[in-house]
Amino acid sequence: MTKVLINEQLVEEQDAKVPYNDRGYVFGDGIYEYIRIYDNYMFTAKPHFERLVRSAGEIGLNLKYSVDGFIELVQELIDANGIINGGVYIQVTRGAAPRDHAFPEESTEANVMAFTKSYDRPYKKLEEGISAVTTEDIRWLRCDIKSLNLLGNVLAKEYAAKNNAGEAIQHREDIVTEGSSSNVYAIKDGEIYTHPVNNYILNGITRKVIKSIAEQYEIEFNEEVFTLDFLKNADEVIVSSTSVEVMPVVKLNDKPVGDGEVGSITKKLQEGFTKYIAEDRK
Ligand code: PDD
Repeated sequence: MTKVLINEQLVEEQDAKVPYNDRGYVFGDGIYEYIRIYDNYMFTAKPHFERLVRSAGEIGLNLKYSVDGFIELVQELIDANGIINGGVYIQVTRGAAPRDHAFPEESTEANVMAFTKSYDRPYKKLEEGISAVTTEDIRWLRCDIKSLNLLGNVLAKEYAAKNNAGEAIQHREDIVTEGSSSNVYAIKDGEIYTHPVNNYILNGITRKVIKSIAEQYEIEFNEEVFTLDFLKNADEVIVSSTSVEVMPVVKLNDKPVGDGEVGSITKKLQEGFTKYIAEDRK
């Protein structure tokens, strides 16, 4: 039987209920994380929970757990569900209260919820690559906060799905920001280019891992804005996230990226990523 974490309780899935006036449900007033599980172990757990703590701080939400407290609580759920490979979704809302846009009374308790999912690494796609389409970035100006408000991202991903693509790469005017649920990289003449960390993108944990692998392999990692044209003329394009890892984009708006094959820099980063998974466990 599958368990869901509701505050500090592990409850059966069918008993996991959310109050009708929870602010996450009514306003999208909350934050979340999605963490990968490899071999029953939460990959890069600390940076994920640190980002959750940061997101909470940015929206003035009081968290009652420390990073270590969260890790312990969520690992219990993973063990209870016997997850070997998969992911865990964790969200915290500002709690249940009468509907009013302004924050509720201080005494309102945040609501924590987490559930797991079991699945393997996307080996076939990692080897063959995916296609992507470009679309205008219509989201708010605090994309650095991993907030529950994902309507812009949802619409972008749906646009990709409608166009038989795996990801939608967003741009503000001419500047490429990030994917609907991933960070984006253009590779040109052996160097990696990606949007700098600021309010226009989520500071991806996978992006951090890729940066450290690039440094290790002495591949130039340029945190600079780049244009749609630059993306379209790149030798290789990658999107990265907790779920898709280092994912090659071999087709963009129905045109091949570079020679249409997974490129050599991408392959090196993928190799480094697999090693990093083993290292992170130690
Ligand atoms: N999303 N940018 C956006 C908008 C994202 O939603 C994500 C991840 C990323 C990559 O972040 P990370 O490497 O820390 O996963 C970038 C997760 C996977 C999700 O929403 O499920």
